Amino acid sequence: MQELDQLEQEWLAAIAGAADLDSLDKVRVAVLGKKGAITERLKSLGQLPAEQRRSAGAALNVLKDTLTAAIADRQNALHVRALDARLAEERVDVTLPVRPMTGGRLHPVSQVTDELVAIFADMGFTVADGPDIESDWNNFTALNIPPDHPARQMHDTFYLPPDANGERKVLRTHTSPVQIRTMMAGPPPYRVIIPGRTYRSDSDMTHTPMFHQVEGLVIDRDIHMGHLKGCLLEFARAFFEVDTLKLRFRPSHFPFTEPSAEVDVGCSRRGGELKIGEGDDWLEILGCGMVHPKVLENCGVDPTQYQGFAFGMGIDRIAMLKYGIPDLRSFFDGDLRWIRHYGFVPLDLPTLSGGLAR
Ligand code: PHE
Repeated sequence: MQELDQLEQEWLAAIAGAADLDSLDKVRVAVLGKKGAITERLKSLGQLPAEQRRSAGAALNVLKDTLTAAIADRQNALHVRALDARLAEERVDVTLPVRPMTGGRLHPVSQVTDELVAIFADMGFTVADGPDIESDWNNFTALNIPPDHPARQMHDTFYLPPDANGERKVLRTHTSPVQIRTMMAGPPPYRVIIPGRTYRSDSDMTHTPMFHQVEGLVIDRDIHMGHLKGCLLEFARAFFEVDTLKLRFRPSHFPFTEPSAEVDVGCSRRGGELKIGEGDDWLEILGCGMVHPKVLENCGVDPTQYQGFAFGMGIDRIAMLKYGIPDLRSFFDGDLRWIRHYGFVPLDLPTLSGGLAR
């Protein structure tokens, strides 16, 4: 009995002294494991004379319970301590200044898309999107470009193989099919921009088979050409960051708008160097117009009640103009040296108040 008392003291001390979960487990195995001290003693009870067996067994079981409880307590304490240590180590001080980013860069297309969204969101636009693979109807027919229309040839369309019904899907040649999707999805008014990828079979200094456009669509009861002009002037001045920038609206033609215009920004090309917002030269940046009544009708919008404007613009092209990038093909080469030179620091989000690009 005395022996057990002494062992109890020793083991309790070993349990209390275990510095981590591993050493605690070693103590547990030494005491309660298959070959542990208590287990061995319980096994050898049978060799005792019958009158001692009972009391010795009872004493051993009490000791076993005591030690089991002590181990469980110690385990809990060590768990809590390990958790506290980890919390202390992984503590993040959210009030610290952001560490400067040294590695990754945002692609100019992403940067300009963020800038466009910031500018148009400030004018109350929301962002819509649609798939790259489109039905012929959304990409052409609903936009008042019937099957035999010459505009189809001009788009250098990538066609997919015909499906079971003989229908050939296309890689969308512009973001305009999302005008259709937006209007089919619910009743007017609409005020959306749609940035996204577009595709045409074309490749040179200023054309790549995949490129990016942003579409705008504003439809309500009394939207007129004055709203179109004001909206695009405000956009262009904010985007090129020139308060006195001039715009010129030139009559043009698109099947899905009437009247239609192409828009030029004032620029100078003196000495072979392009400067936007100076001089008296012009450079085209986008196409626009009042949405054709047939397009509204195709989408179930009553053209006697609703009207408005749409515009479409090449994101890559305005990125090249704003940031002086000479060759469009370099946008999609994936060359690290290029992205380090022309890329943007990701955490410098463009805002109208904080500046669009820094
Ligand atoms: N979808 C036309 C294009 O790709 C641009 C455009 C959009 C013109 C909306 C007018 C209105 O060239």
